[in-house]
Amino acid sequence: MAQQEEEKIVQETFRWLHRHPELSYEEVETTKRVREVLQEHDVTVLDSSLQTGLVAEVGAAGSADTEGPVVALRADIDALPVTEETGLPYASEIPGRMHACGHDFHTSALLGAALLLKQKEAALPGRVKLVFQPAEEAPGGAKKVLETGLLGDVDAMFGLHVSPLFPVGTLGLRAGAVTASVDRFQITFRGKGTHAAHPDAGIDPIPAAAAFIQAAQTIVSRNLNPFAPGLVSITHVEGGNTWNVIPETVLVEGTTRSLGKEERQLIRENLCRLAERIAEGHGSQAEIDWYEGPPATDNTPEWVEVAQKVAEQQSLSVAEAPASLGGEDFAYYQETLPGVFVLVGTGHSYSNHNPKFQVDPAALWPAAQYLVGLAEAALQHILKGKAGGAK
Ligand code: NI
Repeated sequence: MAQQEEEKIVQETFRWLHRHPELSYEEVETTKRVREVLQEHDVTVLDSSLQTGLVAEVGAAGSADTEGPVVALRADIDALPVTEETGLPYASEIPGRMHACGHDFHTSALLGAALLLKQKEAALPGRVKLVFQPAEEAPGGAKKVLETGLLGDVDAMFGLHVSPLFPVGTLGLRAGAVTASVDRFQITFRGKGTHAAHPDAGIDPIPAAAAFIQAAQTIVSRNLNPFAPGLVSITHVEGGNTWNVIPETVLVEGTTRSLGKEERQLIRENLCRLAERIAEGHGSQAEIDWYEGPPATDNTPEWVEVAQKVAEQQSLSVAEAPASLGGEDFAYYQETLPGVFVLVGTGHSYSNHNPKFQVDPAALWPAAQYLVGLAEAALQHILKGKAGGAK
């Protein structure tokens, strides 16, 4: 099949996905569409426990040769609970659902890469696993993919994300972290409810919560290394429901972010200690629920070099990706696998998750070709490393 036809499939799939966004773990039609295109082109879809999303494979699949290198390419496939306001001819047909983070772009670019790799299958020096991951936004779909065990033989893994910071034709690369560790906390300050006119008969949780909210910001300004990025954002406070009753509890909710493991731990320990001791000082108690999200991404410097070389070979510009305190669950893969999370310039636009966010489809086909080049270069790189006895 001519390459022109594959490019058409990529463009059409992108528009179809954009019109039919599905939320995390609800990507049934999305998965069906991806599976159909892959199977029409004889790409092997691997058996897995995934309810939505899938893992496919190109290369010496099914053969006894399990010694060759294996690389994985990942696209996330889910959309967001946002009502689209772009006015695009292929805008979302579902109110309250939108591909506002470009995961439709990732999915169709990876699909294009799968079709191109399939054509070159006989010449590939190893295998390429194509991960269409559900529920990045949940977050945690990456964990579901890891639980399938299908990545157990993978030597290196690559993912991409659209970026409105760069024009079409530019990639953003950076060694180390490009996105942050993400934790969520809910702290309940528990006192003893009473009449507003008789505070002495109860324990007011509001002053404790207020003191904690003030003190929490000193963690970043006073405890954290000033050269290490990190933050505490308190985003939700709830307590009491009228003017003449001192409530029993106050809920304080928020998130902490950092780029380093030590900073992540330091922020958590300090935040919990402040909550507990401030509550105690006020005669109340702090009940803490902590939800660990993904760690920071961790791009391997050696693989960033490879990714940069491939970009140069394909006449793409490379800019330094800025680090962000946003989260990305690709980081779960990077806890055990080396590789790179690449930003793909899709033209200046409103920011991700905005109802007016959009990507320029002109960046799709170059992104598909880049993923192919990256997979090929990665397989070669691993082979060379093994031949030289060092990696
Ligand atoms: Ni995203």
